[in-house]
Amino acid sequence: MKKFSMLINASDVTGHINPEIYGHFSEHLGRCIYNGIYVGEDSPIPNVNGIRTDIVEAFKNIKLPVLRWPGGCFADEYHWKDGIGNKQSRKKMVNTNWGGVTEDNSFGTHEFMELCEQVGCQPYIAGNVGSGTVQELSEWVEYMTFDGVSPMADLRKENGREKPWKLKYLGIGNENWGCGGSMRPEYYADEYKRYQTFCKNYSGNQLFRIACGPSSADYNWTEVMMKNINKYTANGIALHFYAIPDWNTKGSATKFDNADYYKLISTANFMDELLTRHTEIMNRYDPNNDIGLIVDEWGCWFDVEEGTNPGFLYQQNTMRDAIVAALTLNIFNRHSKRVVMANLAQAVNVLQALILTEGEKMIKTPTYHVFDLYKEHQGGDAIYCYCGSEKMEGGAPMISSSASVKDGVMTITLANCSIDEEAEVECDICNFKGSEASARILTNEVHAHNDFDAPNVVHTEACDAKLVGNTLKVKLPACSVVSVTVK
Ligand code: AHR
Repeated sequence: MKKFSMLINASDVTGHINPEIYGHFSEHLGRCIYNGIYVGEDSPIPNVNGIRTDIVEAFKNIKLPVLRWPGGCFADEYHWKDGIGNKQSRKKMVNTNWGGVTEDNSFGTHEFMELCEQVGCQPYIAGNVGSGTVQELSEWVEYMTFDGVSPMADLRKENGREKPWKLKYLGIGNENWGCGGSMRPEYYADEYKRYQTFCKNYSGNQLFRIACGPSSADYNWTEVMMKNINKYTANGIALHFYAIPDWNTKGSATKFDNADYYKLISTANFMDELLTRHTEIMNRYDPNNDIGLIVDEWGCWFDVEEGTNPGFLYQQNTMRDAIVAALTLNIFNRHSKRVVMANLAQAVNVLQALILTEGEKMIKTPTYHVFDLYKEHQGGDAIYCYCGSEKMEGGAPMISSSASVKDGVMTITLANCSIDEEAEVECDICNFKGSEASARILTNEVHAHNDFDAPNVVHTEACDAKLVGNTLKVKLPACSVVSVTVK
């Protein structure tokens, strides 16, 4: 067993962990919305206004703070007026990005806002810049948030919603360097400023306007955007980064060897460098942290499961995904001075999903359980946390960690990213009065996953964490994620 020492200093606050760092993404893609979250009012699957009850309960359990919708690439071909009013007469369209299937628009603004109300999370709307107009986006904001007499507020009332909704997070386009219009950053920056000018703060609603940010390590995009925006025109800029070692051969979600595993973990760990370097650029233009960095889309992206529609991006989820999630969330916590939101792609049945469904069956993936273990970080202060563990093949740390304090309770999350070596961590906790520790663990063989016949193979359970004075000792089996509570 490998032994490592660790240090936590509760008086060294490194950032505030916005709950939205634990956010999620739901696109009109494959079975995320239709036949996933939304089954329709007439479905035999228990639902409230068409929204699956078991999924809502699962989302509530992890305190899901924010949900991004309707895309993704879909956002820049979505015309919101097609998704309101009588369902039977809603316009149908082709979902050109995702399998060319017919989108019947039965899940639109009202249904999405209802979903967020049922879950108790913030809605995050991604507006259409690529194929939309300034007027269209401006009217969408008016429709959702204006409390008075106006063409859009009247239309909303006609459609059954008297009072406006509160909408904080508004994305102005999605991946406008790619599926959102193939724009140069200079061109997009101008478009961004034009669009955002007409997205108004109505009736006490305060928008948090999010500009399309870079793809992965496109530092020039960040530089150009930061030159062009300021705290009066933008509140956030959104980076997209997927853990994909090779776009041509993504590989199977469940069948992989050790080399594939370590390559993926080191790709996921690149998030740390990305955040550091994008933050450095942002610091030069915005030293007071007025503009937040948002990791709008992140997660593992593998080949689709055999026999499923290639355009639906349906993949299984193993302990490997859990390790990626744990490592990435620890990175976000450590960067929480600049990172204010992050959304895993995607919530249900798509990419690194929290939840998979098949008919009335629903399973929670290993990734779901990581969000469950980490949920107490939400709203806490991130504090200095350093583990002197060795680096693995590819450069990622063997032990990934982060810590926070909220309401006098400390949460420490640890992942042993090695697939075959057990570890013991001895942690000195400074400047914190705690007298007891408890812990929960998620661990299994790296390929282990839940499926519809065996939904509980990967699950969390209580484990030992010993606190003697200021020293905490925790054993971390190979391939494990642990959350320790000290109070
Ligand atoms: O999450 C799947 C797709 O990945 C999104 O639609 C797009 O924004 C990104 O390229």
